[in-house]
Amino acid sequence: MRDSHRRKRILTGDRPTSDAFHLGNYVGTLANRVRLQDEYETFLLLADLHLLTTRTSDLEEVGHNIHELVLDYLSVGIDHEKTTIYLQSLVPEVLELAWIFMSLVSVPRAQRIPTLKEVVRDLKLDTASMALLSYPVLQAADILMVKGNLVPVGKDQLSHIELTREIARRFNDTFAPVFPAPEGLVGNVPTLPGTDGKAKMGKSLGNAIFLRDDAETVKRKVMSMYTDPKRIRADIPGRVQGNPVFIYHDAFNDDKAEVEDLKARYHKGKVGDVEVKQKLIAGLNRFLEPIRERRARFAAEKGLVEEILSRGTARARQECLQTLSEARDAMGLTYFRDREAIQVLK
Ligand code: TRP
Repeated sequence: MRDSHRRKRILTGDRPTSDAFHLGNYVGTLANRVRLQDEYETFLLLADLHLLTTRTSDLEEVGHNIHELVLDYLSVGIDHEKTTIYLQSLVPEVLELAWIFMSLVSVPRAQRIPTLKEVVRDLKLDTASMALLSYPVLQAADILMVKGNLVPVGKDQLSHIELTREIARRFNDTFAPVFPAPEGLVGNVPTLPGTDGKAKMGKSLGNAIFLRDDAETVKRKVMSMYTDPKRIRADIPGRVQGNPVFIYHDAFNDDKAEVEDLKARYHKGKVGDVEVKQKLIAGLNRFLEPIRERRARFAAEKGLVEEILSRGTARARQECLQTLSEARDAMGLTYFRDREAIQVLK
């Protein structure tokens, strides 16, 4: 098979719903993407078509979101020479692949995807649109158009990867073996709690620390953080397990000896919350400072984001066209071979 000597591939991406990634996104998936980009050939998409399944207003700001998110990618260390960063809607052929896949998925199967119920509930929709129902099928097309092997994502996305595997298997069984069955990969802190102690950090929940927050903002957010509510005085032994302040220490403070010392003293009621928080602020700022510096450097390069997206999208589109042609051959859709010869009349 022509793919057998190739490096394994990653495909992953984000909907441009907001203009900033937070610490939860970092540990959930961004860190994995940075770490694995040397080992895997990596594709990273901004899923603006997926965004349309839930948003019909304020679409003008999507361009701004895309720009800022690409700067965040670069600032955490995603290298555009190694990772192909592209814009989903500029690869319209992915929709053709999604359309082909839609015949392989029953409506009840799509309705069983847990994220669908969550979105319908959270957005208080009466019912799902066709686009929302097909959301994971389009995601499968994103992944399979580059024959992705590994998909680093947030935990909530695993049901979509499972469906992708089913689609790949069903296509291969029905027609001919074209697609690999990809695996999902979740970060080592699958869900980071918010600064308010809620289970999940989220922009809309107002409990997030963003990668581009300045040192003062980080300080303010950490000082107001939720800790062990039973510990009204520093000499009361506290709970480390499940305490957001310590979860953040574990995830971001590179001074492991300091973290162990703080935990031991917290257990014994021998350290105040203020000291624990001040050391967390210092640790977080050590982690964030190089990210902020890189961000400022990339942001100053005019036209950089646009150039990265144009180059990445051209590359991704070429992959998509190639895969689509293999899929069409496998299906016997060979009755009109010269598709590319048809040009738009000017
Ligand atoms: N659904 C993903 C999310 O909301 C975004 C996404 C779109 C994606 N296509 C993808 C993720 C393909 C991984 C692979 O986070």
